[in-house]
Amino acid sequence: MEYVIVDGEVLDRTEAKVDIEDRGYQFGDGVYEVIRVYNGKMFTGIEHLKRLAESAEKIRMKLPYSPEELLSRMEELISKNELDTGTVYMQFTRGTSPRNHVFPGGNVAPTFVAYTRKVARPVDPMEKGVRAILDEDIRWLRCDIKSLNLLGNLLSKQKAAEAGCFEAILHRGETVTEGSHSNISIVKDGVIITHQADNHILNGITRQKVLEICRNEGIPFEERAYTLDELSSADEVFSSGTTVEVMPVVEVAGKPVGNGQPGTVTRKLQTLFKTEIERQCGNI
Ligand SMILES: Cc1ncc(COP(=O)(O)O)c(C=O)c1O
Repeated sequence: MEYVIVDGEVLDRTEAKVDIEDRGYQFGDGVYEVIRVYNGKMFTGIEHLKRLAESAEKIRMKLPYSPEELLSRMEELISKNELDTGTVYMQFTRGTSPRNHVFPGGNVAPTFVAYTRKVARPVDPMEKGVRAILDEDIRWLRCDIKSLNLLGNLLSKQKAAEAGCFEAILHRGETVTEGSHSNISIVKDGVIITHQADNHILNGITRQKVLEICRNEGIPFEERAYTLDELSSADEVFSSGTTVEVMPVVEVAGKPVGNGQPGTVTRKLQTLFKTEIERQCGNI
């Protein structure tokens, strides 16, 4: 049996139902999070749930649970599903009401859905590196909100998939922003460069953890916008995200990055990131 949460209730997945006039279904009017689970334990769980609360606030939605309450609901779901390695997904929409662009009145409660999924660590691509395409970033100007509206991301990711690539690196004109489903950083002369956390990118929890590791380890980094030229002359490129951890990108738009192999700074970050996971969740 697979358990899910719908509106606070733990149910068998086959019994879970959401109304056809749910605003998430009709408008993408909601926010979500994905948290990594290793050895049945959430990694950076509270950080994700605080970002969820921030995303909700930014779209003027009030969540019925605090991050701490949600954390324990997620622990309950992980344990019921006996999840070892995978992810827990949750979303809140602005609830169910007759279709209208205007927000529903105060008595309409958000719809809360959560489920777990088994997802292995992508060990092989993390070892060998992945390829990426370039694509114009056509998304809206509030990419800092982890909203259910992902069409721009999907169109880019689909292009990448059709080109046999793992990721689409997005750019607004000459400026690189992030990936379709991950943050993108470059390394030049030993310095990591990653777009600043503003409205053009999602401030990834993995990105933040990587920067914290850099601070602790004395690895130099800059948070600033960088150009397509800097990307194409980078020594190393890596993608970071909840399910992909620190993923070396070894080819961009058909051209090898550096010598076409995962670089030494990326390798070091992968090792340090794994140490951090193991500190929180045990050996992986
Ligand atoms: C557009 C985008 N940027 C960045 C990320 C990485 O964020 P995180 O490290 O919190 O998973 C994601 C992950 O889903 C994403 O969809």
